[in-house]
Amino acid sequence: MDKQAIEALLSKIESTETASGNPRVQAIVNRIVRDLCLTIEELDIQPDEFWSAASYMTEAGRNGEWGLIAAGLGIEHFLDLRMDEAEARQGVSGGTPRTIEGPLYVAGAPESLGSARLDQDEQPGEVLFMGGQVRGADGKPVAGALVEVWQANHLGRYSFFDPSQSPYNLRRSIRTDADGRYRFRSKVPVGYSVPPGGSTDKLLKLLGRHGTRPAHIHFFVTAPGHRKLTTQINIENDPYLWDDFAFATREGLVPEMKKVEDPAALRAREVDAPYYTIEFDFGLHAEKEGLPADHIERAHFQA
Ligand SMILES: [Fe+2]
Repeated sequence: MDKQAIEALLSKIESTETASGNPRVQAIVNRIVRDLCLTIEELDIQPDEFWSAASYMTEAGRNGEWGLIAAGLGIEHFLDLRMDEAEARQGVSGGTPRTIEGPLYVAGAPESLGSARLDQDEQPGEVLFMGGQVRGADGKPVAGALVEVWQANHLGRYSFFDPSQSPYNLRRSIRTDADGRYRFRSKVPVGYSVPPGGSTDKLLKLLGRHGTRPAHIHFFVTAPGHRKLTTQINIENDPYLWDDFAFATREGLVPEMKKVEDPAALRAREVDAPYYTIEFDFGLHAEKEGLPADHIERAHFQA
């Protein structure tokens, strides 16, 4: 198509906008419409291809899969990388790396001081004890920090999204103690894949990609005077550790997991089979003017 004709159409579309609109939305939508028109032109996208894409997006929305699609296309990780760069430009670096939140956080998990048990439902799997310290940029422990933790069960499913689990199973909020310490008992998580036959699965198959995540545990760590940390730790030796469909694995987020078999230790922990331990400290950044928002506004499942 004639380039001038495309420009004329784009100008005409944009000329219908007025000052009563939102300038930010106008700028973004105009850019997206322009890029889409150029994509259609350059790739010679046919009407049936365009409308099948529109149907796909409608279906993905109905399925509530846009969070998964954003992760799977690498966009959520891209937003993390942009945040890293913005912080680095302001001289903020070090600390625990951030990584994607994913679409499965639910607010309001039971809160406790210092320690918690995450697995409230009976489930198979090996026992995991994880703990550590929350520290500020100065390396000092942060007492009263809130460590929100959520993970999947032995089938790779999350409470609330999986109605077979009780509410808040494998979800807790732990306040660090006077020494900035948190600890919890749980089960070693397993990796999981996007819902089979769902919108994300269909798209990934067309791209010749898998939709599997390595085993991981999610965290939000918040404390007054500090930037909120959104991150995950991975379980080492998972076959998908560096092949996460959501691109979320990062150096610094794969702690050593130790197996404990000593009978005296088992008795002390009140477990009847060998268990695993992970020690992991969270390093936060101090709040600073001029940085992008660390509390991300995002719609969550309402418990
Ligand atoms: Fe997850």
